[in-house]
Parts: sequence; C-alpha cells; structure tokens
Amino acid sequence: MTSDQIWIGNDHGGYDLALQVLDSLEKKGIPAQHVGSFSGEIVRYPHYAAKVAGAISRGEIRRGILICSTGIGMSIIANKFKGVRASLCTSTYMGKMTRAHNDSNLLCLGGRITGVLEALDILEAWLATGYDGGRHDISLGLISEAENTLCVPGGWTPAGPIK
Ligand code: RB5
Repeated sequence: MTSDQIWIGNDHGGYDLALQVLDSLEKKGIPAQHVGSFSGEIVRYPHYAAKVAGAISRGEIRRGILICSTGIGMSIIANKFKGVRASLCTSTYMGKMTRAHNDSNLLCLGGRITGVLEALDILEAWLATGYDGGRHDISLGLISEAENTLCVPGGWTPAGPIK
C-alpha cells in the first residue's frame, strides 16, 4: 500500500532547510519522514535522491521533497526515476503551477538559493494545489510514453561513495 507520508531527503547544502520543512509539516499535522542526511557534513546528493525518488517510483510513497544547495542536482537525478515528476521551484507560483499542470509528486528546493520563508510558501502552495487534469493529461501521457522507453523499471540503487 502506498504511504501518505512525505519523505524528505537532503545533502549537506539542504540540511538546514530540511529541518525547517520538517518542522513546518509537523506543525501542519502532515506525516513526514526525514531520510537524511542528518548533518552539514559533505555527502553525495544522488544517494538521497535515490531514497526518495526510488520510493515514489516503487509506489511506496506518493510524495517527497529533496533539498540540496541549488535543488538542481536533486532534480536532475530524481527525474531519471520512472513515475517521478520532480519540480525545482524557486517561487510560490511555480509551486502552484507544477501541481496544477504537471501533477508534481516531488518538490525540489535549493537550500542556499531560496530563503526559508519563501521555501515554506512554495511548500504550502505545492501541498495545497490539486492537479487540473483535462488537457494536461495529454502531456503527462506523453511523459509516461517516454518513460516506457527511457526508464528501467525498479530504479537504481547507488553503488558509489556517499561521501
Ligand atoms: C554540493 O556542494 C552541491 O553541489 C549540491 O548541494 C547541489 O547544489 C547540486 O546540484
């Protein structure tokens, strides 16, 4: 069964913002789990992207959040997982539109790009907005079609170093 718990992954550059995001979700009463890293020590972001995006891809969770320094690396790797629609958002409008048009299931944030208050506003918009469906189903169908050719089912488990 797919869990409604939101998993949050981060590297060293996303650690501080991840704690703020967790705190915000807790205050809203939204179930969340922090899957690391758990300090500012330098680590490789693909490991944490694989945990969260892999869980979405395998149908274990519905939604996740990934935070690195810029959010870029996390979004690059997360979007290689079948069924993941990861959105790097730097404005509240992007947070809203990526839910409405892309049915985003993974929010990426830049811990050293976006201030805490802006990031929490983006999160709020991303959580509160539903998918519009309609004509956007055509684009999502094309993305699924591309994934069927481009993505290996079952995802990827990193073998390389975490530090
Ligand atoms: C780590 O220094 C940095 O490269 C990472 O957090 C991320 O921003 C990559 O896109």
